[in-house]
Amino acid sequence: MLYKNLLRPFLFRLNPELAHNLTHTAASFVNRADGVGHFVGTYFKVDEPILAQNILGLHFKNPVGLAAGFDKNGDLPRAMESVGFGFTEIGSITAQPSPGNPKPRVFRLSTDRALVNRMGLNNKGALSIINQLVKQRRPSFPVGINIAKTHNPNILGELAIHDYAYSYEQALRYADYITVNISCPNTEEGKTFENIEALSQLLDRFKEIPNPTRIPIFVKVSADLSDSELDTLLDCCESYNVDGYVATNTSSLRTHLDHTTPSEIAHVGRGGLSGRPLLSRSTHIVHQIAVKTAYNKPIIGVGGVQSLDDAIIMLKAGAWLLQVYTGLIYEGPSLPASINKGLAEYLRKNNLTSIRDLHLQ
Ligand SMILES: Cc1cc2nc3c(=O)[nH]c(=O)nc-3n(C[C@H](O)[C@H](O)[C@H](O)COP(=O)(O)O)c2cc1C
Repeated sequence: MLYKNLLRPFLFRLNPELAHNLTHTAASFVNRADGVGHFVGTYFKVDEPILAQNILGLHFKNPVGLAAGFDKNGDLPRAMESVGFGFTEIGSITAQPSPGNPKPRVFRLSTDRALVNRMGLNNKGALSIINQLVKQRRPSFPVGINIAKTHNPNILGELAIHDYAYSYEQALRYADYITVNISCPNTEEGKTFENIEALSQLLDRFKEIPNPTRIPIFVKVSADLSDSELDTLLDCCESYNVDGYVATNTSSLRTHLDHTTPSEIAHVGRGGLSGRPLLSRSTHIVHQIAVKTAYNKPIIGVGGVQSLDDAIIMLKAGAWLLQVYTGLIYEGPSLPASINKGLAEYLRKNNLTSIRDLHLQ
């Protein structure tokens, strides 16, 4: 209530990146000050053992995670635990630091509860981010590290593999799981690693790098793949036995923008669409992955989840875990708690004993 009545009207008067930076500053204060984090936790955390899952050796107290892109430099993991998330994904981090694309590069399409961004993988660089993380006290929930290729169109071919491998090696020093972001729509050279040949070379290279504690590898896919493109991509990933999938990234298309005018859409220009308009596409892709992998591989469902009902749709489609980003902007920090409370009640009311029972519904 406080967020929707007071904070959101204030933040929505600012440009979206400034609003994000202010929120980030407040959250990094919570991250640093243990006492404040504890206090915030008493307000937001939901203790519902029915929501807990052990997945790939990791313990998730609840299924709602923070999606990549919100905490690009790993400044906020403990703050995110305090607001009740079950896990977080830092990044995307890239081998070389990058300032990203020129501003403005984030836009609200409020009537459709959506955002368009062309941030361009701005981050402080893999080495500096991981060095800072290993020095901090670890949060007690799983932390994923999302890796991408450096935002530089001149890094291509073998150089691109080398660049990715560097971030992978750095991520191995800290991550509970690693997400390979092959689907960022905001790079000048396009989606090179969704090309099967390039992806195979990349996964071959990763296999050569020692991963003694078997840190799980997830692949993050685009919202814009056709069924047959996704099928081919999954064949490739399954042949390398990747541990799981994150579905989906933002969309380059402008579908399901039912309330935004064509001139607003034109004014915003290129970039990845996130939020409510993505939900039908992301759940379709999650379902296709679930069927292809016989519901045996962990899928993190992301794209348009902004409420309990959206979360249930995503979990029924086959997701094991969820992530949110745009929903947090529209709903505020109580979103994970409200989804988690509602999910626990929904499971009990329907005589279900775990999140994954929803797959059978
Ligand atoms: C401003 C912004 C920046 C993002 N940056 C990244 C990123 O660096 N890496 C990544 O894998 N996804 C990134 N994403 C995509 C989100 O992780 C997520 O896949 C997408 O926004 C769909 O979820 P949502 O509808 O809940 O926002 C970004 C999204 C937004 C809105």
